[in-house]
Amino acid sequence: MDKFVIRGGNPLTGTIRVSGAKNSALPCMAAAILTEDEIILENIPQVWDIATQRRLLSSMGAEVRPADAPNSTTIRCRTLSDPVAKYEIVKTMRASSLVLGPLIARTGVARVAMPGGCAIGGRPIDLHIKGLEKMGVTITQEHGYLDARAERLHGAHIVFDKITVTGTEDLLMAAVLAEGETLMENCAREPEVADLAALLTAMGAKIEGAGTSTIRVQGVSRLHGARYRINPDRIEAGTFLVAGAITGGDLTVANCNPEHLSAVIAKLQEAGARVDILGPDSVRVRAGEQLRAAGISTEEYPGFPTDMQAQYMALATQAEGVSVIEENIFENRFMHVQELVRMGANIKVEGRTATVRGPAKLSAAAVMCSDLRASASLVLAALIADGESILDRVYHMDRGYERIEEKLAGVGAQIRRMGNIFPPRDEPADAA
Ligand code: UD1
Repeated sequence: MDKFVIRGGNPLTGTIRVSGAKNSALPCMAAAILTEDEIILENIPQVWDIATQRRLLSSMGAEVRPADAPNSTTIRCRTLSDPVAKYEIVKTMRASSLVLGPLIARTGVARVAMPGGCAIGGRPIDLHIKGLEKMGVTITQEHGYLDARAERLHGAHIVFDKITVTGTEDLLMAAVLAEGETLMENCAREPEVADLAALLTAMGAKIEGAGTSTIRVQGVSRLHGARYRINPDRIEAGTFLVAGAITGGDLTVANCNPEHLSAVIAKLQEAGARVDILGPDSVRVRAGEQLRAAGISTEEYPGFPTDMQAQYMALATQAEGVSVIEENIFENRFMHVQELVRMGANIKVEGRTATVRGPAKLSAAAVMCSDLRASASLVLAALIADGESILDRVYHMDRGYERIEEKLAGVGAQIRRMGNIFPPRDEPADAA
């Protein structure tokens, strides 16, 4: 299995470019199911989760191939000969459940493996199911699969009990082809929902309010092909901002959307980093005075993202004082803590709260990546640790960061990959 070897101590300087958002690309690829015409998506990141989504669509009968531009993909679901999301694929990526809504809307039947438990908590899909049932879908569960059936979906009034990102996206994709109006309340306001809605609109859907908590959809009988450019990845951008601040460098994060980074930028400024928005698509981060403690509490967008909690914790180990970090979205999302502690961090966890006392001198160690964002946190810690760290199981990182070692090396980090050049031929089996 691939490893990263990282020697800490270099401040990162220069310009680093952000790829397209994985979490936008995944639902946008699933949206291709909704039409028999061609969908061309640009700015798709080359990461494992996207490779898995391609594999999933192909296994159902879609034609998936590279398009004319770099990082672009063409998807055509002329027919869907096998509308089944198989367990072998779903178990490696929970976002596979995003195909449930579009499959049932397009074909009237869907068979989707239930995602199992995963490293960062239970992550049920009960709210997807409940919403689809309100739209007229009959769902049964057998042998680990959900079997969904419907004549034609009808519009419904759906109030989410809890805010869910992929749940909002899944039901939005079902609603666009349903008969009549669907009103969805307490929706996720994440930019990725708005990204998906923009693609669906380009395909002929009638949607109002995406990006707010109330979305109204007028169903149409048919959608057509479209070409769409995926927005930049705000979590990758946020990770780079932390990298610049933690290493005491002078880093420009290019090709990002600063508006999507407001909570992260505000927190980095509160913690003493100098952050300047240079324009509509770039942000500069520099070391300020000594970093100081500033607590975070993860929330749904526009609050501080749970997907940035682990990376921020690496920074908090270097801040003077006590930073209290509250994780409110997922239980069990502190798996990076033990590894950070092994590198010398002073962190105590109680339930959903981690208390970080800093600054702590980090020393290099052999550490194990446990999930996507936990891996990013360990990379950040290794960038400032004394000596050479070895990070094992970097396939977790490869699920969501495009060639991060090349990007970081390009701005002065001493980082190299040991093992196969990404992407390896076979996908990891346990990348939940
Ligand atoms: C998405 C993101 C993930 C991010 C998360 C929260 C993608 C592919 N993934 O995951 O990177 O960390 O949003 O910002 O976009 N829940 C239920 N029932 C459901 C659905 C969710 O109880 O049917 C709960 C979950 O257990 C969790 C919370 O709702 O506690 C939020 O989960 P959700 O927003 O659905 O996360 P994902 O969409 O899986």
